[in-house]
Amino acid sequence: MSVSTKIDFREEILEGIPTELPPAKPYDLAVNHAPKRKKILGPEEKKLALKNALRYFPASQHKILLPEFSHELEQFGRIYMYRYMPVNEIYARPIDEYPAKCRQAAAIMLMIQNNLDKQVAQHPHELITYGGNGAVFQNWAQYRLTMQYLANMTEEQTLVMYSGHPLGLFPSTPDAPRVIVTNGMMIPNHSKPDDWEKYNALGVTQFGQMTAGSYMYIGPQGIVHGTCITVMNAGRRFTRGEKGLQGKVFVTCGLGGMSGAQPKATVIAGGICVVAEINPKATETRHKQGWVDEVFTDLMELFERVKVARANKEAVSIAYQGNVVDLWEFIVRNNIEVEIGSDQSSLHNPFAGGYYPVGYSLEESNLMMAEHPEEFRNAVYASLRRQTDAINAMHHKGMYFFDYGNAFLLEASRAGADILKEDGNFKYPSYIQDILGPMCFDYGFGPFRWVCTSGSENDLALTDALALEVMRDLRKSAPTEICTQLDDNIRWIEQAQANNMVVGSKARILYADATGRMKIAAAFHKALAEGKISAPIVLGRDHHDVSGTDSPYRETSNIYDGSQFTADMAVQNFAGDACRGATWVSLHNGGGVGWGEVINGGFGLVLDGSDASAKRANNMLFWDVNNGIARRSWARNPEAIFAIREAMKREPLLKVTLPNLVDDSLFTI
Ligand SMILES: NC(=O)c1ccc[n+]([C@@H]2O[C@H](COP(=O)([O-])OP(=O)(O)OC[C@H]3O[C@@H](n4cnc5c(N)ncnc54)[C@H](O)[C@@H]3O)[C@@H](O)[C@H]2O)c1
Repeated sequence: MSVSTKIDFREEILEGIPTELPPAKPYDLAVNHAPKRKKILGPEEKKLALKNALRYFPASQHKILLPEFSHELEQFGRIYMYRYMPVNEIYARPIDEYPAKCRQAAAIMLMIQNNLDKQVAQHPHELITYGGNGAVFQNWAQYRLTMQYLANMTEEQTLVMYSGHPLGLFPSTPDAPRVIVTNGMMIPNHSKPDDWEKYNALGVTQFGQMTAGSYMYIGPQGIVHGTCITVMNAGRRFTRGEKGLQGKVFVTCGLGGMSGAQPKATVIAGGICVVAEINPKATETRHKQGWVDEVFTDLMELFERVKVARANKEAVSIAYQGNVVDLWEFIVRNNIEVEIGSDQSSLHNPFAGGYYPVGYSLEESNLMMAEHPEEFRNAVYASLRRQTDAINAMHHKGMYFFDYGNAFLLEASRAGADILKEDGNFKYPSYIQDILGPMCFDYGFGPFRWVCTSGSENDLALTDALALEVMRDLRKSAPTEICTQLDDNIRWIEQAQANNMVVGSKARILYADATGRMKIAAAFHKALAEGKISAPIVLGRDHHDVSGTDSPYRETSNIYDGSQFTADMAVQNFAGDACRGATWVSLHNGGGVGWGEVINGGFGLVLDGSDASAKRANNMLFWDVNNGIARRSWARNPEAIFAIREAMKREPLLKVTLPNLVDDSLFTI
């Protein structure tokens, strides 16, 4: 049966790893593939990687699979087991199509399939959702086994996931999470970038990014919304002249998974975006999608176009097909005015395809990173030094530059670029320090999201309407401190359908605080219980949020009491969500800024209209936001002190230790 090219979708899931070898699959050149990974394993380690891979299969098949996996390891630096890719299309199907014994498990299957949908995922055949190395699984055997376990699990079991590997189903209770995911958890001294290369090649760990390895990615919409909020607030607060982005230029890099949201978001915010992208495939995708309006290869012509846009205060996005360093250096040489600058190349992954050094073609770089990694590393660092010099020159002319959470400042400093102040701190803020931290996270506002598991447009439209009603209602009595945040999100949700952002599952994002999230969940519960919403709703969030992530160069970069280098909050958040009712929880090393630089976690919660699920949502969402506000408040962030005091007024059972502020003048004595 398994050798046939046709197999029913449900049967294929229930089959797990087929007993008979499926036919080998050709390497599909039409698909966007992950770059070849660095050669890092010695001969004995290669043997270990192969033995590790073969343990998923009966010994009788090892003779056939060994040379094939060995070829994959040589050719791609990893063993993906392409032969085991399912025959049926992977995408978020309506929940009732999944073979399952409990709906929670079916909802998780839907979320996994969404992360691997070829319309959604960056390198679908390598099981990478976004960010170059953000993996859902390490190989196709893990995918097949996991789906089979989920199809068979009951509410008396919990599935344990070790970096894509399903360890197994363990007895538990209906109130326990159905799945507990950890990705990339390492002994701290073994968490350098090369450790990821090595242990991932051995098949014992993976980089789960944030919402890739936790099955909570909702395609570009999530990131467009967050980018919109960031760019809009940067325009409000940090540009000269009138407030807002009209007629102002934002220069940046990247048209990839997340970075590709920058041009679209800038246009929604009313500005002019100029974005460099070295990979023609990425440029073409974004151009076809309408996310970037125009593409230029000639910088002179490009800036003639910008001149017109500036004069007309046009909202427009323009791609430069080429290297970002060439773009910045052209801007400096030609004295071009730029109000805001940033960068979203994947510098969390600088030497394995995240950043392309100036002076080399894409193909030359791809070859060099695999064949001559040391030379490639030097080229990346030289490129970062040149990029920083150009950015510094523009900063002197008044441009506002911010780090976009991609480890630009960190890698530039490692490259020896002129990026540090005398006190050793970076010259530029991260977008969290200046924008998202004080304006959103410290008040509890973050990227809440939901997915309609029916796959129905009507359900999504109804949830939009319910969320809008809740937000408008909250706005009526909101303290002034959070009115802008509510207004921005009310406008977003009003325009959400018109912006046509849904790719993959029927999902929606908006930035809401704890009260907003809980009230929206309650409204969904009521509509589910009354049968107005036709199938369960999955609630979740990005890890890039108030409480989910400890990351000193990003989410917690606006924590200034020294605790930005600790990871208690993310771990407490994960454990707390698990024991308060999340349907699944995840804890990751890496994500955004890179392996070893961040601990982050997330959750998914299935609301099915039952009182038990409503109670779980209420309990968990309150904790999920407020534990982070409490930590931010203890770090003396004034907005968080305000927010946690408000939360204590609303919930008498909440008792938080508040900081006593010290008068700085005491230290001058
Ligand atoms: N958008 C956000 O809100 C957000 C938030 C936090 C962090 N990030 C970070 O932003 C980075 C980008 O994420 P992504 O998903 O878009 O990654 P990606 O790898 O899909 O895209 C990055 C793009 O940059 C291009 N690029 C690299 N070097 C270049 C160069 N020198 N010149 C021109 N183009 C170049 C690549 O070709 C690629 O298409 C990641 O590090 C991510 O963690 C984004």
